[in-house]
Amino acid sequence: MTRIIKDIAAAVKEISEGNIVALPTETVYGLGANALNENAVLKIFETKERPVFNPLIVHVPDINEFEKYGKVIPDEVYMLAERFSPGPITYVVKKKSIIPDIVTSGNDSVGLRIPSHEMFLEVIKSAGVPVAAPSANRSGKISPTTAEEVMKELEGKISFILDGGKCSVGIESTVVSFLDNEICILRHGYVTKEEIEKVTGKINLPKHGKIISPGLLKIHYAPITPLYIAENKDEIEKIKIVSDKAAVLDMTKFADKKDTALNLFSEMRRLDEMKPDMIIAEMTDGEGIGAAINDRLERASSGKIKIIKGKICITE
Ligand code: TXA
Ligand code: MG
Repeated sequence: MTRIIKDIAAAVKEISEGNIVALPTETVYGLGANALNENAVLKIFETKERPVFNPLIVHVPDINEFEKYGKVIPDEVYMLAERFSPGPITYVVKKKSIIPDIVTSGNDSVGLRIPSHEMFLEVIKSAGVPVAAPSANRSGKISPTTAEEVMKELEGKISFILDGGKCSVGIESTVVSFLDNEICILRHGYVTKEEIEKVTGKINLPKHGKIISPGLLKIHYAPITPLYIAENKDEIEKIKIVSDKAAVLDMTKFADKKDTALNLFSEMRRLDEMKPDMIIAEMTDGEGIGAAINDRLERASSGKIKIIKGKICITE
């Protein structure tokens, strides 16, 4: 049986005993295990049905721990950490051998993050170990942002979900690689490219055709209902006329981009549960956090949609 709890000590006990437990972070809920315990980490992959080639982020309580698990930490990591950590940013650096290969899917790098959620921080401090945690959804599904959403994803598969309320950010951390003397965003997230560049100077975006981060695999956050991207509001209106069972992910209901990030996954879930024929969404302008929002929409989508000669056409 899976229980939603508020008891931090019970969550710590699970981690200490080599079990897995769902934990709140400021971005999305995570499914945590002692990163130094191979068997515990294996349970994460099994429970999520996650492909073993997709590495996990290791969460630590403060910047002093980076050198325990990462080799050669560039100055820019410390500069960024001063500004953004604890918070929604993950630093990919060369790993030390203390981190088991299963955590990093055999890569010689590790993603390190200091989450800012107080309850998560308390768990890692009390457990006294780094905590490997992917988002607490089944692989390929939408990331949960409340304890109840975790329950829908993992009921019966774990004992406890530590309830820390609704996540304050709502989308996952920005993943930044510092490998090969180059700073490169591997996954867009809440901390934007522009904000990072203010600290480090010009950085790179992921190179096409080279998957350096398996999280960049195309469909990754998909609802069960197919989601399609429409070019603009006019197209959405036309689609609504042709199909009365199309649900619209209405971006105008959100106050601004932060609010969109905060509620995007919950809204996808809500629409999915209504069991429409399809969900139609419109992208943002891609500026600021819009890059991360568009990235999540693209990955959730099964293609682009358009009305041609009065008929619905999926164009890609
Ligand atoms: O906000 C977050 O990052 C949440 C919370 C729970 O911390 N975690 C999360 O984990 O989103 P997950 O496993 O769903 O996504 C981790 C991403 C994946 O895209 C993975 O490929 C990438 O980080 N990643 C992790 N370690 C990496 C490494 N060593 N090299 C390249 N990419 C890595
Ligand atoms: Mg995930």
